[in-house]
Amino acid sequence: MKALTGLSAAEFARRRKQLMRMAGNDAILVLPAAPERVRSHDTHWPFRQDSDFWYLSGFPEPEAVLVLVPGRRHGETLLFCRERDPERESWDGPRAGQEGAVADYGMDDAYPIEDLDEILPGLLEGRSRVYYHFGRDADFDLKLIGWVRHVRAQVRQGKQPPHEFLELGHLLHELRLFKSKDELKLMQRAADISVQAHQAAYHAARPGIREYELQADVERVFRANDAWPAYGSIVGAGSNACVLHYRANTATARNGDLVLIDAGAEYRGYASDITRTFPVNGRFSPAQRALHDLVGQAQQAALAKAQPGVPYEAGHVAAVETLTEGLLKLGLLKGSLQKNLAEGSYRRFYRHKTGHWLGLDVHDVGEYRIDGESRLLEPGMAFTIEPGLYVSADDTSVSEKWRGIGIRTEDDVVITADGHRMLTDGLARSADEIEEAMSAGR
Ligand code: GLY
Ligand code: MN
Ligand code: MN
Repeated sequence: MKALTGLSAAEFARRRKQLMRMAGNDAILVLPAAPERVRSHDTHWPFRQDSDFWYLSGFPEPEAVLVLVPGRRHGETLLFCRERDPERESWDGPRAGQEGAVADYGMDDAYPIEDLDEILPGLLEGRSRVYYHFGRDADFDLKLIGWVRHVRAQVRQGKQPPHEFLELGHLLHELRLFKSKDELKLMQRAADISVQAHQAAYHAARPGIREYELQADVERVFRANDAWPAYGSIVGAGSNACVLHYRANTATARNGDLVLIDAGAEYRGYASDITRTFPVNGRFSPAQRALHDLVGQAQQAALAKAQPGVPYEAGHVAAVETLTEGLLKLGLLKGSLQKNLAEGSYRRFYRHKTGHWLGLDVHDVGEYRIDGESRLLEPGMAFTIEPGLYVSADDTSVSEKWRGIGIRTEDDVVITADGHRMLTDGLARSADEIEEAMSAGR
């Protein structure tokens, strides 16, 4: 039974081809699947495939290793995977087996995972460069070293061991950074599900509701659409919104509180990442609205920099300038704009960056800087824009009305040939839009 990848076999084949072309015909690339992780005794954490392995195979099982051998006459794309086993399958569900790996996943050849020790040294032999993720899985690192040593031990018999070991991410993550048309369809679907989920929270909100109840409303929409949380949902009422990675989600949202929800669906492996902050009673107070508006302005300023040819970091710089200016106007910061910008005084209220790459991983792969310089945006790059402001509840240096307010507004964009497209555009964003969306649900 083939896994639901949402992508064609041709797309996976194209990715493998492209990667092999980049690596060259004297290379070999080795990618283990994610291991199953024990939660306690014989129960496991939900299995999530390794994103790199998934990107190249769409193969959903643990205990598998993908080996790419560019230019190999008897097949370039090899998969080691579990054998069929009716007894185990009656407990854990069907396995593809070697036949399925070839028929359903486009592998040139497949072998039982038990044969890895026997076969891999022979595949390494004569290849000068090995691409692999060193340091990600210590057990597998040792196995690979063992296979290389095995070849080295036979040098006098004329065997040629590999002599260069390279970080696979350098090539692969550059590919993953640029999203194809079909990937963007899946990312749009993930975003649409998340938009619907946040709308459910707008409609369910009322004073007295628990944070976990709102989390349930959001995640129900994920599951009802065959999606999962792409990361631990954050639902923070009142000053809990100031804890950047708040996870407890147990408090009660009281009348007058803002609630910050940072939650995104993962659909067919692709993440979305949305944050909205709204008043649990449906009406922003003047102070809440002032800070919410300012975060919105910072997001607009960053969004204006989401264009091909513009340095990635320009968005963050624009957001920081807008926030600093606004904080001065509102009296949360004092002194000249120039001095505050030079000193980075905004950091008291804004401690994180304005975004990150988005894709198979919520904090997706890809370099942000090249040779020490912020890289320029190009079509197909997807990322979040997520400015925020967080005023500690016990910050006595600011007027009382600001204390304990935490706000973040986060949307997902993709760079296009002439600008950007916002994947999460459909969700109420400004204070007015949010109030309207909340009242529509009552
Ligand atoms: N949800 C994680 C983040 O916003 O980066
Ligand atoms: Mn984010
Ligand atoms: Mn987020």
